[in-house]
Amino acid sequence: MSFTKIATAGAGTMGSQVAWQMAFHGKHVIVYDAIPEGLEKGKLLHREYAEHFIDQRGAVQKQIDDTFARLTYTTDLATAVGDADLIGESVPESSSFKEAFWREVSKHAPERTVFTTNSSTLLPSVLAGFVDRPQKFLALHFAIGVWDSNIGEVMGHAGTDTAVFELLLTFAEEIGLVPIPIRKEQSGYIINSLLVPWCTAALERLVRGVSDFESIDRTWMITLQTGMGPFGMMDRMGLGVVYRVAKLIGETTPNTQALDSARYLEEHFIQKGLPGVSERPGLLPLSGSRFRAAWLYLIRLRTQDASSPRRQAPVYRRARR
Ligand SMILES: NC(=O)c1ccc[n+]([C@@H]2O[C@H](COP(=O)([O-])OP(=O)(O)OC[C@H]3O[C@@H](n4cnc5c(N)ncnc54)[C@H](O)[C@@H]3O)[C@@H](O)[C@H]2O)c1
Repeated sequence: MSFTKIATAGAGTMGSQVAWQMAFHGKHVIVYDAIPEGLEKGKLLHREYAEHFIDQRGAVQKQIDDTFARLTYTTDLATAVGDADLIGESVPESSSFKEAFWREVSKHAPERTVFTTNSSTLLPSVLAGFVDRPQKFLALHFAIGVWDSNIGEVMGHAGTDTAVFELLLTFAEEIGLVPIPIRKEQSGYIINSLLVPWCTAALERLVRGVSDFESIDRTWMITLQTGMGPFGMMDRMGLGVVYRVAKLIGETTPNTQALDSARYLEEHFIQKGLPGVSERPGLLPLSGSRFRAAWLYLIRLRTQDASSPRRQAPVYRRARR
């Protein structure tokens, strides 16, 4: 057993899922959010996850009751971290927010506490500068839809204690993740350093009018025999996140095409109130935006294509000869 008493910070899209996943797998979790409405939203999401686990994932009521019994909620940081073995931070992706958070935590957490961040873009080597124990600072990075996309990317910085790194891999496994050790600091970890260029390239082809998004996704899905293309993935991440990443790339790298992509997303989706799935993290979109409907259509279309008699018949005839 690695860590038992956990404090999670930020009860939003990711933090709520992280806390739920940990509590469901037996950890005692104090959920902290600096904003009372944020904490209330986190509680609401936990009730949704409970329903989802019973309806879709075969959980029984006792497991759900036990999970809730292991969850407590607070807006007081000192209470949250005062007796924590481990802190899992999912506060907003802003350097100043993270700095203020970690400096304050360093004042209240006991010496034994290990600090982890779920930051998507800020490197541990940078954030470690804000804490009193850089050797116990590292990233545990989750993917949205934590229980289905259950990777736990563990990444330290040059000064992270290797024993702490190994312990965090064990912890990731204990909470139902597949631990992914990243032994050299990599911006975007493994998943985002692969996903971002993929999504950026797809967006660019759409914006330049190379093809429509249905055809781009269909090309990927049929060729790789997979259930999701780049636009399906972008919808799942939330178009707000994709927009911010495209804007950042456009502003900080020579890839100015990314700014056109950001503008396109803003004009065609965000301003029209089609933000993707970010308001209902981890749950498959069942209604709402045109974009989500188009994505579900693509999946259905592909399934129909693959099982249509016209495609199966020749295979069957060949097999009998
Ligand atoms: N959304 C994703 O797909 C995803 C995936 C992996 C990692 N992450 C990372 O998780 C972190 C959180 O992202 P999110 O999408 O959950 O954001 P979010 O905006 O949905 O949630 C942030 C939460 O933090 C709360 N908050 C604001 N200031 C705070 C503070 N000072 N202390 C504590 N809580 C505070 C807000 O009230 C809100 O509930 C980011 O670092 C992001 O990079 C996000």
